[in-house]
Amino acid sequence: MSYLNDNELANIRNSISIVDVISNYIPLTPKGKNYFGVCPFHEDHSPSMSVSQDKQIYKCFSCGATGNVFTFIMNYLNLTFTEAILKVAEMAGVSLDKDINFKQPKKYKNEYELMDITCKLYQNNLHSDLGIEALSYLKKRGIDEEIIKSFNIGLALDDNSLYKILSKKGYSDQIISDLGIINITSNGIFDVFQNRIMIPIHNLTGECVGFTGRIYKNNNSAKYINSKETKIFKKGDILFNYHLARDSIRLKKEVIIVEGNMDAIRMYSCGIKNCIALMGTSLTKQQVDTIKKLRVKVILMFDNDNAGEVATFNNGNILEKAGMNINVVRLSGEKDPDEYILKNGIEALEDVIKSSISFMEFKMNYLKSNKNLNDSKELADYIKLVIDSLKDITDPILKEITLQKLANDYNISYSVLASELEKLPVKIQMEVFPEEKKTVKSNLEKLEEEIVFYMMNGYNYVTIYSNKLGILPDKIYRAIANEVVYFYSNNKMTSLADFLSFTEKSLYKEEIMNIISTNNDISFNEDSFIELINIMQNKMEREKIKNLKEEMNKEFDINRKIELANKLLEIKKGSVVDENN
Ligand code: GTP
Ligand code: MN
Repeated sequence: MSYLNDNELANIRNSISIVDVISNYIPLTPKGKNYFGVCPFHEDHSPSMSVSQDKQIYKCFSCGATGNVFTFIMNYLNLTFTEAILKVAEMAGVSLDKDINFKQPKKYKNEYELMDITCKLYQNNLHSDLGIEALSYLKKRGIDEEIIKSFNIGLALDDNSLYKILSKKGYSDQIISDLGIINITSNGIFDVFQNRIMIPIHNLTGECVGFTGRIYKNNNSAKYINSKETKIFKKGDILFNYHLARDSIRLKKEVIIVEGNMDAIRMYSCGIKNCIALMGTSLTKQQVDTIKKLRVKVILMFDNDNAGEVATFNNGNILEKAGMNINVVRLSGEKDPDEYILKNGIEALEDVIKSSISFMEFKMNYLKSNKNLNDSKELADYIKLVIDSLKDITDPILKEITLQKLANDYNISYSVLASELEKLPVKIQMEVFPEEKKTVKSNLEKLEEEIVFYMMNGYNYVTIYSNKLGILPDKIYRAIANEVVYFYSNNKMTSLADFLSFTEKSLYKEEIMNIISTNNDISFNEDSFIELINIMQNKMEREKIKNLKEEMNKEFDINRKIELANKLLEIKKGSVVDENN
């Protein structure tokens, strides 16, 4: 693992233009010195994001998103900062060691390393003499060498070789067992996974954190077993294949959710890359949050059986409550997407996906099942269920369409249905958006902000600040000014775009973004900066004098009073303070 310093980072940044990079993802139109496009970081249709060729930064005037080429890629593709660096380097044709890191060495480094080694050992097993049967099972299922490689599929043997090798490498029983790959029992220590085809499970950022193991010979145990929860494997956080699918999800503005890992593996390998799997569970809050952050349409494509239908209904409701746009695909014929592709080909599945129906339409059909709608009582029950399911929906058009459809299909008056819906107590979990804090900045704060903003835009301003002022009254502005001073004097660089990379690690990231996005690019010049510094100096001295005077008035000790008076005199001598202010 090598660590990139600020200068190396600046070199990568300088080898590609932010305008070229961003226009790969969103259309940009030149206007004056800058380029404009629709900001991808909030719901918008008008071009509120400006991209500066000169400064190599972007700013959104509407949502305040600000950054350089790395932060754009990071946020747009939902990558970590380090992954974004690799991506930009790749686009710029700069070769980089895959093992770079920009962040601090990460927590659980040993655990991740151990999982990687385990993963490699399993892979070796599959290609050894002991792996012939497993390999032929995979081949029979149409899982070829390429798929095996890209998903790092392996094999767990039944000779406890994993434990033996890992302990020979010096790993303690405790750490191996904590990761859920060996069992320490009173009869001895055993590998948890035996005679299973092993599929690694990754967290959202792509580290291998666990495994799911599938049987491949006839035996009576569970089809799959998964690693237990560990400190790095939190089942409720994980979405299978998310780390590989993320880019494609963003680009297609659509995520396809399936039940089985094998379905996701198959679809991904056949080119439907925007696909993640739930691993047979129902969506947790964390998973919903992850999906919601993608801001894309969701397509649920679960197995073609009763369980799959129920799972579609349940998970669809969870996603609908979270305000997402959901479509549903119900397969016919084959059991699941994997088998569908093997039997009918990928184009056939793509066609089925294209003809997906809205979740509302699915729900109307689902609620109908097992009901005899010729029976008035059952029809009434059904209609009530549909109306009931509308009460949590915020989209008024969808509500209207659904009511209209009910009215037409069953020959009931629309107004009766609408008034039934009106009667229901609204139980919408309104997302509480905290009232945006529009704190009015004082003149002093505005001045501080302007000084800090100048400093971010040039080393000469940093020097003037350090020589003439060196401190600001407010804690946050002072801290930001210190960061700017630290950054520029350490790197002898004068670019705002590079300072923005540095800012990724800052405690004051939000405030810095805010300053950059709310201050206009005034034509910077030293004279006006010196004037700002003088005004600030004045204000600060006046404040000092005021405080000294107050202290003097309260002071009873005559010696201390004299001391204060001298101090006061000194300040007044060296300053241009207008006493009347
Ligand atoms: P294949 O039979 O290999 O094609 O599996 P699949 O991907 O079609 O999975 P299936 O639809 O049968 O089940 C969906 C998901 O539920 C799987 O991917 C597993 O994560 C999980 N699952 C299935 N069977 C078991 C089991 O016996 N135990 C556990 N823990 N999970 C299971
Ligand atoms: Mn399957």
